[in-house]
Amino acid sequence: MLRIGMLGCGKMAAKMADALKGHDDIVIAGVASRERSKAKAFAAAHCPDAKVFTNYAKLAAADDIDLIYIATPNTYHYEHAIMCIKEYKNILVEKPFMMSRAEADSVFFEAKNRNLFVAEAMWTSFMPLHAQMMEWIKEGRIGQIKYVSANLGYDITDVPRLNDPVLGGGAYLDLGCYTTNLAVSLMGDDIKVSRVFARKYSTGIDKDTTYCLETDDGGTLAVLYVTMTTNTDKSAEIIGETGRIHVNDINNYRSIELYDETGDLVETAEAEGPLYEGYAIEVLACADAISKGLVQAPEMPWSKSAKIASINDIIRSWN
Ligand SMILES: NC(=O)c1ccc[n+]([C@@H]2O[C@H](COP(=O)([O-])OP(=O)(O)OC[C@H]3O[C@@H](n4cnc5c(N)ncnc54)[C@H](OP(=O)(O)O)[C@@H]3O)[C@@H](O)[C@H]2O)c1
Repeated sequence: MLRIGMLGCGKMAAKMADALKGHDDIVIAGVASRERSKAKAFAAAHCPDAKVFTNYAKLAAADDIDLIYIATPNTYHYEHAIMCIKEYKNILVEKPFMMSRAEADSVFFEAKNRNLFVAEAMWTSFMPLHAQMMEWIKEGRIGQIKYVSANLGYDITDVPRLNDPVLGGGAYLDLGCYTTNLAVSLMGDDIKVSRVFARKYSTGIDKDTTYCLETDDGGTLAVLYVTMTTNTDKSAEIIGETGRIHVNDINNYRSIELYDETGDLVETAEAEGPLYEGYAIEVLACADAISKGLVQAPEMPWSKSAKIASINDIIRSWN
């Protein structure tokens, strides 16, 4: 049994709470909001048995909580993560994990010193179809990967936090972490940013970003596109020397297709369960890791979040 505390009662926290319904081995034991009435309304709507905390610090300090799920705006992840760690709490932090590699390293340092579990809530990394895709690649079903293309776009220009630089808005921080996570999964750690074309509003926030990642040896190229202005098909193509894989929805894998070198479809795998089951799968994986005394989730190790944070730093500072 894992007792989870929700820090922040926003939209994502609500989705997570609903996804956890019906999973008897996960209990939402506490919810915290900056506003008392909001926390109460959240609990009533999503987790009536949860204790209501009227500020975040009280939840961080509470007994009987095994894991705190941090679902606040991007620029607050660091402050809230450190606050929980200093109260000896394991944490699952929404993506993008931190605003910089320096923040990520600081969180890992503080957690390591206290032997605490920390994971980035990069839910795609926990999905069974992600594991299946990686298995096909490991088995050599498409040979060496030469080229990856992926796009992720939604018409979400009206979401306030995405338009606010103070909250870490913009297409790349919101969506680029998925495309970059996919590329790091497929291409490994030895990759560099070779091009960035970010189109920005006058606030400095990017409405869309196109970028290229390349392996250090030049053998594999990824061309990636994220946008907050348009719904795209959210697909990826992974082109290998002897085949290719098509991913249908890189933000919530619906299906993956394996093609051989003649172009014939040879295998398909489909997602199972409800649409947002991935959130529950992610928390169950964290519960499993914590029960084994691990401080990292094998599906989303610290080194991967750190690599993504480094890439984010370069992309966001590219001129
Ligand atoms: N994994 C996914 O699929 C996914 C999907 C969407 C979003 N996310 C991530 O989840 C996080 C939250 O996104 P969201 O869409 O849930 O945002 P949201 O609806 O705006 O909720 C964020 C919550 O953070 C709290 N908060 C603390 N300080 C705040 C401040 N200064 N301004 C505004 N809110 C503040 C608020 O909770 P209280 O008022 O209750 O304190 C607010 O409701 C982001 O990091 C985002 O990238 C992940």
